[in-house]
Amino acid sequence: MDWGMENRLSRLIQPDGRALFLPIDHGYFQGPTRKLEEPGKTVEPLLPYADAIMLTRGILRTCVDPTTSKPIILRVSGGTSMVGEDLANEGITTSVRDVIRLNASAVSMSIFVGSKYEHESLLNLSNLVNECEEYGVPVMAVTAVGKELEKREARYLALCCRIAAELGARVVKTYYCNEGFEKVVRGCPVPVVIAGGPKVESELEVFEFIHDGIQKGAIGVNLGRNVWQNEHPVAMIKAIRSVIHEDYTPKEAQDLFDSIKEGKQ
Ligand code: 5RP
Repeated sequence: MDWGMENRLSRLIQPDGRALFLPIDHGYFQGPTRKLEEPGKTVEPLLPYADAIMLTRGILRTCVDPTTSKPIILRVSGGTSMVGEDLANEGITTSVRDVIRLNASAVSMSIFVGSKYEHESLLNLSNLVNECEEYGVPVMAVTAVGKELEKREARYLALCCRIAAELGARVVKTYYCNEGFEKVVRGCPVPVVIAGGPKVESELEVFEFIHDGIQKGAIGVNLGRNVWQNEHPVAMIKAIRSVIHEDYTPKEAQDLFDSIKEGKQ
């Protein structure tokens, strides 16, 4: 691996082989998402506990202190919205020149396997990989499902992850599924991080799917709403960190969450 590529990846994936990425890129198609109306304010207290943040260039430039040393994963796909015709019809929004200018450690983009725009999104990924590899910038592919959350099952996710890796993604972000997640990871020759999806009912549920996903081979998470839409986002990210980097069980993470929430830590 070229030095630049290895250096960038090592900023994202920690020495223990694990990673906690914090995405705040939701506005690129959802507008001012709840609790992300002012992304700078949302992310500031959480930054110390994230291994990297994922966001668009517009939010990076306007909401993040340029003196930060936090690695940046730049979302470089978009061009659709919640109210538009089809979320799958994304293109590449950001030039590699801008990626380098912004000193990003990686870029991310969505692929929409099985959609009307499958072909375009897969070629977008391939072309992005061609360009980014030239400069030693890793591409993280996001296996997106748009509004069709029911697609999140092992056979489909395994298909998406493998295709993303075959086309050259250095990291793949995909959803966790209760059954067969180990097959999703096994079929993907590059590191897999778990996406969150809409906020779930309880904190314990989050700790459980992260813990189980890691046991089954994921290296960590790229988790947004289940962190910053929680009433206690700092407690949440600290507890998630304990599962990822300290091998806490879900119960131990819940105890940690509760004690931080109650001001005992
Ligand atoms: C959208 C994204 C988001 O970064 C992703 O959905 C992760 O955030 P959340 O945990 O809130 O789902 O890539 O396609």
